[in-house]
Amino acid sequence: MSSSPRIAVLASGRGSNLAALLDARERGELPVEFVLVGSDKADAGALRLAEAANIPTLALDPRSYPDRRAFDLDLFARVAASDADWLVLAGFMRVIDGEALRPWVGRVINIHPSLLPKYRGLHTHRRALEAGDAEHGASVHFVTAELDGGPVIAQARLAIAPGDDEQRLAQRLLPLEHRLLPAVLGLLAGGRLQWQAGNVRCDERPLTAPLQLGARGLE
Ligand code: GRF
Repeated sequence: MSSSPRIAVLASGRGSNLAALLDARERGELPVEFVLVGSDKADAGALRLAEAANIPTLALDPRSYPDRRAFDLDLFARVAASDADWLVLAGFMRVIDGEALRPWVGRVINIHPSLLPKYRGLHTHRRALEAGDAEHGASVHFVTAELDGGPVIAQARLAIAPGDDEQRLAQRLLPLEHRLLPAVLGLLAGGRLQWQAGNVRCDERPLTAPLQLGARGLE
């Protein structure tokens, strides 16, 4: 692995989590090199952010492939061609095909806006409110071919407040996501976090429960 870990990012949307990663790097808190930002949506805000930061970009349209696997294999071949060490899914709204993912298992993380294993998939804020949950949060996990199903590395929690609706809750959670994702990527890129032989290890110890984002970072 190169001395400065090489990071590829996939995003489908506005890219606020990508922006948080770029800001952390800018502040000197995330010593990595961003080598590619890819998207399944040519108009994704994340691509514009990457262009502004002089990071190579890639937009592939799933509709121009015969099926999901063909798209994912091509996408992952291009990620591999970027010589990335790690891949971050930051609002990438697709499940990845198992065959495309296989060479990357343990090197791909995703941020998901719920306290996994609760609320895999979409509409997580609404579902937490409808269930009457007292707290909500975000998780960063290793990616498998199962939707939001890989081992959870770290979580950020917040108490649901009486005035929260779906939008407000999403808005209040986002700043926590923006701290959580750079913190986890920092551990991974720093060689402090591994997923091997079915176990997640952090600082040489098995992770028996997800790390928690506290006032001073991950604990
Ligand atoms: C975030 O809420 C993330 O947790 C989810 O998709 C959203 C992406 O937002 N996976 P952004 O594009 O990073 O602003």
